[in-house]
Amino acid sequence: MVVATKNRKKLKEIKEILAGLGAKLSSLADHPAAPRIIENGKTFKANAIKKAVKIARFTKKLTLGEDSGLCVEALEGKPGVYSSRFSGKNKSDLQNNLKLLKMLEAVPLKKRKAYYACAVAIADARGLIGVVEGRCSGLIGFKQEGTAGFGYDPLFVIPKYKKTFAQLGIRVKHKMSHRYHALEKARKILEKCIERTKSG
Ligand code: IMP
Repeated sequence: MVVATKNRKKLKEIKEILAGLGAKLSSLADHPAAPRIIENGKTFKANAIKKAVKIARFTKKLTLGEDSGLCVEALEGKPGVYSSRFSGKNKSDLQNNLKLLKMLEAVPLKKRKAYYACAVAIADARGLIGVVEGRCSGLIGFKQEGTAGFGYDPLFVIPKYKKTFAQLGIRVKHKMSHRYHALEKARKILEKCIERTKSG
C-alpha cells in the first residue's frame, strides 16, 4: 500500500498507528516519478481524496491519502488547510508556531480553544473507496513546550493533562490524536481491501 505523503514525520506516525495491518507501506519517496499534488482543496477531505485518487491511478496500488491541520476557534478556524504554509511557503514549524503565538497574543486561555483535524482517503486504480475523519480538541498554549511530535505539537495543550503533545510524547499522542481517530476508522476499510486482494 502507498501512503501519499512526502512528510517523513507524518509517515512515521501513520506507520506506527497502522502497525499490524499486514500490508507493507511505501511512500512517495519510493515513487519519485509520481505526479505532484497541488493541495488546493477547501477542506481536509477534498485534499485527502485528491492525494489518494491521483497517486492510486499512477501507482495502480491501494493508496492512502492524508490531509490534516490545526483549526483555532479565535481565528475562525485558521490556519486550517493552510496549516503547513501558515507563515509562507517553505517556512518552518517554528515560524508557523511563532506566527500563531503572535496572533493569539492578547487572547486569554479560555478563548484559545483549537482542534486538530485529519482526513484519510483510500483509493485504488479504479477510484475512491472511502474517506473518514478524526479530530482532537485542545488549547493553544502561551509558549512552546516539549520536543516530541512535529508541527504545532509544542503549542497544542491537552486540557486533561495540562501538557502539550510535544511534552506528553508519541505514545500518549497515538492514543488520542486526530490521526489516530481517522486511521482507526480507515483500518476497517483497509482490512477489507487487503482481505479481498489476498483472496483473489
Ligand atoms: P499537510 O501536509 O498539508 O496535511 O499539512 C499538515 C500540517 O498541519 C503540518 O505541516 C502541521 O503544520 C499541521 N499538523 C497536522 N497534523 C499535525 C500533528 O499531528 N501535529 C502537529 N501539527 C500537525
